[in-house]
Amino acid sequence: MESAATLAGGMKNDETAGTGAAPATQAAELSVVLPSFNEAANIPILFDLLKETLKDISWEAIVVDDNSPDGTAEIARRIARQDPRMRVIRRIGRRGLSGACIEGMLASSASYVAVMDADLQHDETMLPKMLAELRIGDTDLVVASRKVDGGTVGEGLSSMRTWGSNVANGLAQKLLNVTLKDPMSGFFMIRREKAEALAPNLSSQGFKILLDLVSSANGSLRIRELPFTFRERQHGESKLDTLVTLDYFGLLLAKYFGNVVSVRFLMFGLVGASGLVVHLTALRILLLGGMEFNLAQTAASFVAMTTNFFLNNQLTYRDRRLRGLRVIVGLLTFYAVCSVGVLANVGVANLIYADPAYWWFAGTAGAIMGAVWNYAASSALTWRKS
Ligand code: GDD
Ligand code: MN
Repeated sequence: MESAATLAGGMKNDETAGTGAAPATQAAELSVVLPSFNEAANIPILFDLLKETLKDISWEAIVVDDNSPDGTAEIARRIARQDPRMRVIRRIGRRGLSGACIEGMLASSASYVAVMDADLQHDETMLPKMLAELRIGDTDLVVASRKVDGGTVGEGLSSMRTWGSNVANGLAQKLLNVTLKDPMSGFFMIRREKAEALAPNLSSQGFKILLDLVSSANGSLRIRELPFTFRERQHGESKLDTLVTLDYFGLLLAKYFGNVVSVRFLMFGLVGASGLVVHLTALRILLLGGMEFNLAQTAASFVAMTTNFFLNNQLTYRDRRLRGLRVIVGLLTFYAVCSVGVLANVGVANLIYADPAYWWFAGTAGAIMGAVWNYAASSALTWRKS
C-alpha cells in the first residue's frame, strides 16, 4: 500500500492534480514583488531567507523577470514547482524596473505588497517590521530608507551614485514636495488597494517607482520610514548606472509639469539641447580650421545628429536600445528623420515670422515643431517597438 506521503507526492506531477482534490492553500497576506534581471544566483538564496524571516506570516514571492539571459525565470520556476509561495512573471520584449514592479504589484491579491530588490542588497528582516507597521492601520506606505537615522548606504553604492542620489533627493523634495528622506529607495511596502488605485497614473519607464507612487498620491498616503543598511552586492552586477540618474531628473520634471509632457519627450528635448551645444562647438572648430561655412554647417549638423543619436539610444530609448548592426540602420534613419525635422523647423518658423519683433517666437515655434517631428518620427522609425 502506498503511504499518504507518496500519494500526495505523486499528485503534484499527476495530470489530475488541480481537479479539486488538492486543498486550497491559505491566501497570502503579503506579496513580495522581486523585480529581476540576471539574478539567477541570488533568487534561490533570497527565497530561503524569505522563508526563514516570514515563517509566521502567510506570504508569496512574485519574481518579475524581463527574460534574463541567465535563466532567472527558469530558476524561479523550478522553486515554484516545489513551493507554491513562489510565483513567476516572465516578460518578453520589455525592460524596466518600474514597469516590472507595477506589473508584480498588480498580480497580487494580498492585503499588502512589498517591492524589494532581488539581489540581496535589501535586508529581508525588515519585512516583518514593515508589515507590523501597516497592520496597525494608520500607515499606508512603509519605506525602508537608507537615509533616516540609523540607516546607511553602507558600501552598497559608488560615490558617484551617492552624489547623484543626494542631488536627486534634494530636487524631489523641492519640486514635488515629497518629504521622504529616501525617495530613491527601491524597498517599500504598501497597502495593495492603494497601489491598485495609483497604478493608472504611474510611469512604467525608469526606476523611480517609489517617488512616482508618492508624488502621484498627492499627499494622500500616510507614510513611515524605517532605517536599514543597504548591503553590498554579492552575485551579479548592478543594472542601474550613473545614467539612470538622468532618467530620474526626467521623471521629476515630468511630474513637476503635471504630466503634460512624457518623460521620454523631455529626455529627447534635453538630448536635443545638448546637440545644439555640440553643433555650435563643432561649427566653431571647423570654421577656425578654415572650412567654408555651408560645408562646416553641414558637417556640424552630422556631428550633432550623431551624438544625439547615441545619447538617445543610451538614455531616451534605453528600454529599446539598438545594438549591433541595428545601430547603423538606426543611425541612418535618424539622419533621415532629422533632415525632415529641419524642413519642418524652417517651414514653421517662416510661416510665423512676419515682423522682426517676433523673430524669437518664430524661431522657438520652429524649433519646437522640429523637435516634435523628430521625436514622433524617430520613435516610430528608429526606435520602433519590435
Ligand atoms: N524586471 C526587471 N527589469 N528588473 C530589473 C531591471 C529591469 O529592467 N533592472 C534592474 N532590475 C532588478 C535587478 O535585478 C534588482 O533585483 C533590482 O531591480 C535593483 O537593480 P540593481 O541593478 O541591483 O540596482 P542598484 O542596486 O544599482 O540600485 C539600487 O538603488 C537605487 C537607488 O539608487 C536599487 O535599490 C534601486 O531600486 C534603487 O532605486
Ligand atoms: Mn542592487
